[in-house]
Amino acid sequence: FAYVNYLVERDRKFVLNTLLTGLSRLEYRGYDSAGVAVDGDSEGEVFIFKQVGKVAALREKIESQKSLDTAKIFVAHTGMAHTRWATHGVPSERNSHPHRSDPTNEFTVVHNGIITNYKELRTILEKFGFVFESDTDTEAVAKLAKYIYDTQKKAVGDAMTFHGLVKAVCKELEGAFALIFKSKHFPNEMVAARRGSPLLIGVKTSKKLKVDFVDVDLEVPDANDDNNLLLPDQPKIRRTHSRAFLGDDGMVSPIEYILASDASAIIEHTKKVLYLEDDDIAHICEGGKTLCTGIRCFCNLHIHRLRRDDHMSSVRPIQTLEQELAQIQKGRFAHFMIKEAFDQPESVVNTMRGRVNFNDYRVVLGGLRSQLANIRRSRRIIFSACGTSFHSCVAVKSIFAELTEMPISVELSSSFLDEQLPIFRDDVCIFVSQSGETKDTLLALEYCKERGALCVGVTNTVGSTISRETHCGVHINAGPEISVASTKAYSSQFIALTMIALQLSDDNMQKVARRTEIINGLYRLSDDLRKTLELEPQIKQVAEQLKTARNLIVIGRGYQSATCLEGALKIKEVTYIHAEGILAGELKHGPLALIEASMPIILIMPKDRHYSDSENALKQITARMGKPIVIASAEDTSPLFNDLQTLRVPQTVDALQPLVNIVPLQLLSYYLAVARGIDPDSPRNLAKSVTTA
Ligand code: G6P
Repeated sequence: FAYVNYLVERDRKFVLNTLLTGLSRLEYRGYDSAGVAVDGDSEGEVFIFKQVGKVAALREKIESQKSLDTAKIFVAHTGMAHTRWATHGVPSERNSHPHRSDPTNEFTVVHNGIITNYKELRTILEKFGFVFESDTDTEAVAKLAKYIYDTQKKAVGDAMTFHGLVKAVCKELEGAFALIFKSKHFPNEMVAARRGSPLLIGVKTSKKLKVDFVDVDLEVPDANDDNNLLLPDQPKIRRTHSRAFLGDDGMVSPIEYILASDASAIIEHTKKVLYLEDDDIAHICEGGKTLCTGIRCFCNLHIHRLRRDDHMSSVRPIQTLEQELAQIQKGRFAHFMIKEAFDQPESVVNTMRGRVNFNDYRVVLGGLRSQLANIRRSRRIIFSACGTSFHSCVAVKSIFAELTEMPISVELSSSFLDEQLPIFRDDVCIFVSQSGETKDTLLALEYCKERGALCVGVTNTVGSTISRETHCGVHINAGPEISVASTKAYSSQFIALTMIALQLSDDNMQKVARRTEIINGLYRLSDDLRKTLELEPQIKQVAEQLKTARNLIVIGRGYQSATCLEGALKIKEVTYIHAEGILAGELKHGPLALIEASMPIILIMPKDRHYSDSENALKQITARMGKPIVIASAEDTSPLFNDLQTLRVPQTVDALQPLVNIVPLQLLSYYLAVARGIDPDSPRNLAKSVTTA
């Protein structure tokens, strides 16, 4: 996260508060440790503060610094901040960001991603006399910046630009990064670079401004722009163009920039954002030039390219975010996880809005229109995803196959490349990802694209890498999901995928009755979820009862296979109880050995065509003294449940029943976490968006 202001007088308290609030919005992405770098008291001086733990701890530390009390006012300010999820090096103060080039903080850097060649860089830089303070990959970047800056200065004087320097640094880096640089040599400038990890820039202008959008020009380097090792080249500008920012009074307008890994940290400042592309280097500096037209220009955002790419657009349009601040706030709830679970009656409607027509039973997904014929013509459909998103694919597999009559397979993105799965030009590959940034899923996407498959993205994040890199796709429109453990994204992914199947099959007259049944079920879904959420008090009691459990088994079959896998994953993620999802058909092939009176078991048993098989499973369990808690239909009066605890849920269409049945498991995992004293929004060792492979 970073904040830049020009011509807006801000005191240090304001700047620090902006950085810390921005960080807290991003905290769900990592919460091992946090840090900020802000301008000091004199020109070029930089203060760094770091703290292990959550952003609140960093805030406390900063608030206790008496030396900051003097209300230093900045007319221009560049500050950066970072919240970490450790990839290299244990969570500790010295490993937290910002990292610096040297003890005088000449260059400070924050980084999201992973630099794969950092060991080589570190070895070289150590040979040049640099002393490393941390175990991180990022520190090599800060030190490399200083090395190149000093070398260039010695060779040709002080001619290097900040973006030229960052360009030279980035040329040496392998791996994935969103990087932000601050330097005491360029006090009112900031440079950001991106490759493989997301980075957005929010642009905030005064309300008086006539033009409330900006287009940013791209300076494309010449074709002969080479890759000199550790030798920076001067940027070769082929085309520049500036747009003036003028207020009504003809004066230059105040401008603030907010840089962040995702929109949730920008939305409270501005809705105007631009998304950096891979290999973009954004340079923010003070403007104030007068153009030949006589217009005063305050154009201080330029985007440079790291390497030439003839297919790359030369504009980065400013887009308007549709999120609202309320969507990323907890409201009346104690945690995001429970808030998002309770969002579901509304979020599922948002996923269907404008797409499912409940009058003529048709589904139209605009994002697929151009490729619909190609998808129908394909040989097979392969889903790929990780974690909860993977489970949403498992959940729809059978309805997808039933409606489309096509071979369907579901593959974990993390094993896609390991297995070198054969992919062909007439395959359709659907990549499902809440964040749209999961590295494993991106790698699988790249792999399939290279082999000529038609790639479809299903994400919750407009502008994410997966939405941009796929040939077509569907946004699930669930609204921002902050909790690490996914809830509403799961239900919306499920619906989005079901809608794809419905649309693909709408030329098949034999499926009319089935489609109608499902669409009617979708119509009632919001109410069904609302009723299911009313189980909350009962589930709280179940959580009290199970809170000391060390193991937990969730059993189901057929349409509920994914429900038990996803339910068990939720419990694992936020309660640290070892939970396993077991398919009832497999019970007798091993898991039955686990069943005894003391083993906590949840059995999902809806009234569908697998009911009699589930009855068998129940008998097998009770015969071994197991006492499962049964998630059953509200209408099911089976005497088999007489001695058992039941959680009664509304009955819906078989293929949609998993959407209802997952809710008690989401609530149970949440209340188990709370009962066990765990913060469900920040489970240990996990991050919301895993941008490293
Ligand atoms: C991480 C998160 C999971 C998530 C998975 C896939 O592991 O902790 O909750 O399901 O990534 O994320 P995606 O953004 O691709 O859906």
